[in-house]
Amino acid sequence: MEGVYLDPPLFLLIDSAYGFVVFSVKEGAVGLRRLPYKSLSVLFVTVLKEAYMTNAEMWNERYRSTESLWIGEPDSSLVASAESITIGSAVDIGAGEGRNSIYLARCGWTTTAVDFSDVALSRLEEVRDRENLPITTILMDVLAYLKAPGVFDLSVMANMHPPIEQRHLLYDGLYRSTRQGGYIFITGHHKDSLGFAGPANIDMLIDENEIRDFFGERVEYLRLEKTTDVADHGHEAPNLVAFLRRL
Ligand SMILES: C[S@@+](CC[C@H](N)C(=O)[O-])C[C@H]1O[C@@H](n2cnc3c(N)ncnc32)[C@H](O)[C@@H]1O
Repeated sequence: MEGVYLDPPLFLLIDSAYGFVVFSVKEGAVGLRRLPYKSLSVLFVTVLKEAYMTNAEMWNERYRSTESLWIGEPDSSLVASAESITIGSAVDIGAGEGRNSIYLARCGWTTTAVDFSDVALSRLEEVRDRENLPITTILMDVLAYLKAPGVFDLSVMANMHPPIEQRHLLYDGLYRSTRQGGYIFITGHHKDSLGFAGPANIDMLIDENEIRDFFGERVEYLRLEKTTDVADHGHEAPNLVAFLRRL
């Protein structure tokens, strides 16, 4: 086993049976990634670049690397949930290329899509403009946006996996951005997907207890379960789905 440490931020590289594994400590979060790089030099360049890029720049780079990063279809659990309630206003935080915002807007929801990647939002805007959909895009860090969000009938967060302290801020913001009697939809990689889908760090993954512990008695649990859905990356994986009604 070989290790390399850089400070700050801190990295540990291990030449394992799986390829190179990178632990990174950045912004207080410990990340673990398995990288299929062919050469150590490519890995070093990438790791060093990432260390000095902001999260928004990293996401932009990911989006720029391909024509579309995620599948185009909306999350099927969101579709089932949204179909069961009255159409109104919705906010989609971390909207990305907008598969869920676009779906909601096509159904008639007046939708606000928030993301800090201008590359992702410009793809969403292209579809919005072509189809004349009721979507407002907001290019902003969602943590800043959620400090003073609008109030919506439905608040959506799909596939965001920051560290737990930030997830709590997001959940709190989602709660506040939802009118009383309105709905909150959350989905993401379940803790049981560790090792084969999503972030390779259990602390970044979600489960039912986390949702129940955070929202407690403040919401009605219309749905709270692990599903095997087609996730944003296009293959089946255990997902956490929470569909809540704010009391
Ligand atoms: C995995 S993608 C999910 C996109 C979309 N929700 C979906 O399910 O297709 C995560 C998105 O969150 C955005 N994101 C991550 N952290 C963010 C932050 N702090 N503020 C704004 N956007 C953020 C990224 O730019 C990216 O588009």
